[in-house]
Amino acid sequence: MEVKRVAVLGAGLMGHGITQICAQTGKFEVVMRDIEQRFIDNGMEMIQDSIQRFVRKGTMSEGEAKGVLNRIHTTLDLKEAVRNADLVIEAVTENPALKKSVLADADRFAPSHAIIASNTSSISITEIGAATKRAEKVCGMHFFNPPQLMKLIEIVRGLKTSDETVETIRQISMKLGKESVVVKKDTPGFIVNRILVPALNEAVFLVAEGIAEPEDIDKACTLGLNWPIGPLKLLDYVGIDTTLFITDVMVNETGDPKFRPSSLLKQMVRANLLGRKSGRGFYDWTRK
Ligand code: 3HC
Repeated sequence: MEVKRVAVLGAGLMGHGITQICAQTGKFEVVMRDIEQRFIDNGMEMIQDSIQRFVRKGTMSEGEAKGVLNRIHTTLDLKEAVRNADLVIEAVTENPALKKSVLADADRFAPSHAIIASNTSSISITEIGAATKRAEKVCGMHFFNPPQLMKLIEIVRGLKTSDETVETIRQISMKLGKESVVVKKDTPGFIVNRILVPALNEAVFLVAEGIAEPEDIDKACTLGLNWPIGPLKLLDYVGIDTTLFITDVMVNETGDPKFRPSSLLKQMVRANLLGRKSGRGFYDWTRK
């Protein structure tokens, strides 16, 4: 199936980057939708900022930058966003009820041939696919943060996802300049988060137990393991709330206590110390 028009639902941390990469590398016409104008404005600001970085570096010309921005359209209306889409990529908050309702609406208003992909990092694709009447055309398309730079897309099969859907998303991933891997079974955390989230959570246990300062834990992993950034800084990038949510899904779905979140993670969410998005997590992000 040929994809020309993409709708991205959600203009947040992931949605804006997915929109940008679809318009930039994929050269697709993209409609980015969110529920309030301020979220769209914030998403567009992040896109402008990212594009300017490429322009400053000389990896994108001013003309290309204009072309990318011209291919991006925005709306507050979900029906308007998806009605001409060949592919809908859902990137709303990690909340199963919300995702199901957004997918059900996308299913109602998108053309019957359209694929509906979810950028969920942990929620069951089978479960959210069941909110639509086209579960065979629903799959996971899991990008990594920041989507503009990270090379991987995890393609996740729900129980009813068809081979054709997986193949189309694999080809789109290539068009986006990404490598993809197929997660054959719909399992919490897929591949990367199944490995990463317990490691991040363990770093939080180290802080909570007073074993080392956050800076030293990060230094240990960057210098001792060659990680590009340490686990606590990465937690601030990904979002403390998102990480807590993933650990909760892992515990609830598998029943395995090895995934239990550190109580410090929970306390930080209660205190709105969510990382970069709220200005403070393990680090202070209010000073540039
Ligand atoms: N758009 C375009 N360029 C960007 C950018 C963006 N959004 N963000 C950063 N850059 C560029 C910068 O301009 C800079 O370019 P230069 O080296 O040519 O000057 C370069 O990237 C490095 O940026 P910074 O110096 O500002 O910051 P860092 O050195 O920290 O690098 C990073 C940024 C590449 C994102 C690095 O921090 C990194 O590799 N982080 C790890 C990312 C990661 O692990 N992501 C996966 C998270 S898990 C996930 O997403 C799954 C989810 O489900 C939880």
